[in-house]
Order: sequence, then structure tokens, then C-alpha cells
Amino acid sequence: MTDRHAQHTTAERLAHLEELGAKVAAGDATAIAKQRARGKGTARDRIVALFDPNTFTELDRFVQHRSSSFGMARKRPYGDGVITGHGLVNGRRVYAFSQDFSVFGGSLGEVFAEKICKVMDMAVRFGAPIVGINDSGGARIQEGVVSLAGYADIFARNVDASGVIPQISLIMGPCAGGAVYSPAITDFVLMVRGTSHMFITGPEVVKTVTGEDVSMEELGGADAHAEKSGVAHLAFDSEAECIAETRALLSFLPDNNLEAVPWVRSSDPVDRDVPELDTIIPDVANRPYDIKRVIELVVDDGDFLEMQPSFAMNIVCGFARLGGHAIGVVGNQPGQLAGVLDIASSEKAARFVRTCDAFGIPVVTFVDVPGFLPGTSQEWGGIIRHGAKLLYAYAEATVPKLTVITRKAYGGAYDVMGSKHLRADFNFAWPTAEVAVMGPDGAVNIVFRKELAEAEDPVARRAELVEEYRARFANPYTAAERGYVDDVIAPRTTRRVLGEALQASLTKRVERPKRRHGNIPL
Ligand code: HXC
Repeated sequence: MTDRHAQHTTAERLAHLEELGAKVAAGDATAIAKQRARGKGTARDRIVALFDPNTFTELDRFVQHRSSSFGMARKRPYGDGVITGHGLVNGRRVYAFSQDFSVFGGSLGEVFAEKICKVMDMAVRFGAPIVGINDSGGARIQEGVVSLAGYADIFARNVDASGVIPQISLIMGPCAGGAVYSPAITDFVLMVRGTSHMFITGPEVVKTVTGEDVSMEELGGADAHAEKSGVAHLAFDSEAECIAETRALLSFLPDNNLEAVPWVRSSDPVDRDVPELDTIIPDVANRPYDIKRVIELVVDDGDFLEMQPSFAMNIVCGFARLGGHAIGVVGNQPGQLAGVLDIASSEKAARFVRTCDAFGIPVVTFVDVPGFLPGTSQEWGGIIRHGAKLLYAYAEATVPKLTVITRKAYGGAYDVMGSKHLRADFNFAWPTAEVAVMGPDGAVNIVFRKELAEAEDPVARRAELVEEYRARFANPYTAAERGYVDDVIAPRTTRRVLGEALQASLTKRVERPKRRHGNIPL
């Protein structure tokens, strides 16, 4: 026992513990004031906001670093700049770490990393989600390679925990260099506008190397990652909103991959008809409508938590409930690029479907897709391998898969979007569905090119052929004839029909052949 812990009587020892505990909880007032002046909450504020009141149990309060370089021996704050522990979120156990920028800039050294690894190990061992709150200057410079080792220890745990427990990263300050790769591996990344920044190299290095002048916010702020890079799943104006949505997101996720998805009693009758759906598809084939409206009309209480709402907006992904059961929803968005599949939307939806599959969350897909986006930028950008990811994700997913074709399901995109052929469990089509190799105009141009060139009145003949094609192919009945869709349903009954199908498929069990892992075209 060192001098600073040299008490003798039990009463003295108790008083000392109380004093130490208070010191740890209080932190450094000047550094905290500086943190608040930056418009940021403290690591402890964030923990308090995340957990149900008075449920957080802190671990490793008295941990101190062992470094002596660059005067570090003189400054050994308790906790070493990261708060770790567990508590309840909506009554369910969740583990967390919260990096404290007010201590050494939240920089990660040896024991800081050990604390995070320990709480991650516990989350995996006890099968509960982990939330990491990131606010850090990165590897602790004074601790050198030991800090880098600490990061790698965390990365390895992120990978091991992937698909076992939900991992959520909140970025609430700097997160730069290799440090970004821990959040990048996690299932969800949530950011706050103005204060959180993620980049591999900051604006100064960018300026030196490429000559580009770019601010921190433009380069790696919340909107940059929510709209351009797709790294962030959600962006918020405040930490409070970010944490509130984290709690909402957790409510859709199971504790771990072996648990059933959360079920909540819903007061919204699952057999409710939705008359508005009968008129939602415009009579003009190319006129858009909002697939989000369709989703909101179908799911419980219209409650839809969209993921990546500002990225690859031609596809919509998010969580909802049906009959109280959590579901993942994917839908082509006709209002954005006509709902076409491109590189970004394929990757976005593939990752989402795999996230749902990892955690046993049934996937409901709404299909209105004219095909894949043509063009050199798409071809050279690798739409072949990126589009393959979505196909792969749907095909490998063993969770219940329910699909509704609302309008177009053309070409390869028909196959990809949760088709029966990729082993969806229940497939439905609205009477407005058009399941075909391509749209009527394109098809007639190709098949009847010669005939049209020789026709006396090509315009009239063309219209006739388009009508003939439409009658033969641009409807759901050719697919229904073969059982590729299980039924053609009145749109107003969609909620009831999906609710029944979900109920019927909750007991789904699929055995896969043993293999190390598949080889998804990354
Ligand atoms: C040790 C650090 C630190 C670090 C910040 N601090 N970063 N201490 N190691 N990496 C300390 C500062 O010395 C300061 O201490 C306090 O934290 C607050 O920092 P400020 O600079 O005053 O804050 P601010 O002006 O807000 O700037 C924040 C910052 C800047 C942008 C993060 O501190 C910064 O650029 N830090 C270095 C970032 C970096 O290059 N990190 C290594 C990246 S490589 P005092 O005592 O003065 O309050 C990396 C690799 C990861 O992380 C490896 C994974 C494979």
C-alpha cells in the first residue's frame, strides 16, 4: 500500500474510499469547463444520458496508467480518461465505454485500452450490446507503440464481437487516423454535427498532400459521413438527440445473436386494413411516390427508424415493428433516381440485410426497381461486384424474408431484391406489379426493332406492341402463375398479410453446410 492509501482504522478506510470515489466522479474542473466551452458534454454526462436513471455501474474507477515518459509519472488521473461499465437501457443490460477528452485529450494508452477491452469482453461473455462513445485525440503520444497495440487489441475484439452482440459507436469529438477503424467495424455509427469528426488524415495533411482546402467539418463532419461517405448511419444536431436515438435503436436489436428479437405489446392491430395503400401507386408508370409513406402505413404505429436516410437515398433501410416484432425494412425509393440500384444503394442495403441477418431480425422488402444504373462511372466503379453484394446478402440471409412487389421488378434487380429464387419465404405482389425482364418501351425497341423500322406507321405499331407486351408481361400474374409470388394481394391488406406471414415464419430454421465463411465480393 502506498502512502496515499495509508489509512488504518476501518472508518478511515471508508472515508478514504468515499473521498477517492468523489474525486473520480468529479474529474478536473478546469478541463471539464474547457470541454463544455467546446459545446460538448462530458464523458459522464453522456453515460448518464444513455442509461436508465441510476442504473449505471462503473468498472475500473481506480485504474491508473503506468507510463513515466514525458512527465507522465506526475499526472496519473484515476480512470485514465475513459469511463467503462454497464447499466440498463429501456430496462435491458448494455455495456459502454465513454472516452473522456478532458483527460489527456481522451488519448488512448495502455490501460485505457485495457479498460475498453475488459468491458468489451464482458459484453460478449454476457451477451449484451456495447455502446462506445468516442471523443479522443487518438493514440497517446507519450505511450508510443503500446497505444497502437491497444488499438489493435480493440479492433480484434470488434471483429470477434461482430455478429455476436450489437456494437454501436457514437462519435462525439475527434476520431482520427487508425482510431476510426474501431467504429468502422461496429454495426452502427452515429455522429453529432459541429463537434464530431472522423478522418484518416486531417485537413492539414490533406492540404499538404493534395492541395485541397477543406475544413474539419467538410472533410469528416457528421453530414460528410451521413451524406457522402456512408460511414455514419445517423447525424444529429445535438448529443442529447444522438443519445435518445441510440436508445431507440437499441430497442429494435436483440441482446445478442442467440436471443429472439425484441417484442413489444403493440396497440396497433396487425390485421388493420390500410385503404390509402390502394391509391398510392400513380396510374402513370414513371410517376414517383414515396416508399417511406408505404412503409409507415404498413408498420406498427407508423414508427420507422431509418438508417442512413441521407446516403444512397434511392434505397431506404430501417427498423420498425410488425405485430410488435422488430423487423428490418428495405425499399426501393421511386422518388430518387427512380429507385434504381447503383453502387452506393447496393452496398447500403447489403450491409443492412447482413446486419439484420446476423441478429435474427426478419427482413421485409418493398420492391419497385427499374434495374441497375447504366453508365461508365457505375461500370468502372464496379457495379458488378458491388451489386453482387446485395444479391449475396439476400441469398445467404437465413432470417425470415418477406417481399412485396409494389410496381416494377425488372431484370436482374428483380432477382436481387428478395426474390423467391434467393429463398425469400413469402413473396407478394400488388396488382400494380410489373415483373419482367425490362420495361415495355425498352423491350419493344429491342425485340421489334426490325419490324418497327419497316412498319408503315411505326408510332401506331409501337403503341400496339407496347400494349401487347404490357398485357403479357407487365403484370404480376405471369410470376404468380409459376409461384414466384405466393399471392397477388390488394394493397390495403398488406399489413395483415405481412403480419400473418411474419408470424408463420418466426420459427424458421435453416441449416447451412459447414464452411469457414463464404466469400462475399467485398
Ligand atoms: C496525448 C493528447 C493527444 C494525444 C491531444 N492530447 N491528443 N495527448 N496524445 N494523441 C492532449 C493535448 O496535449 C492537450 O493536453 C489535451 O489533450 C487537449 O488537446 P488540445 O490540442 O488542447 O485540444 P484541441 O485544440 O481541441 O485539439 C484536439 C485535437 C488535437 C485535434 C485532437 O489535440 C490533436 O491534433 N491531437 C493529436 C491528434 C493525433 O495526431 N493523434 C494521433 C493520431 S494517430 P493539455 O495537457 O494541454 O490539456 C492515431 C493512430 C491510431 O491515433 C492507431 C490505430 C491503428
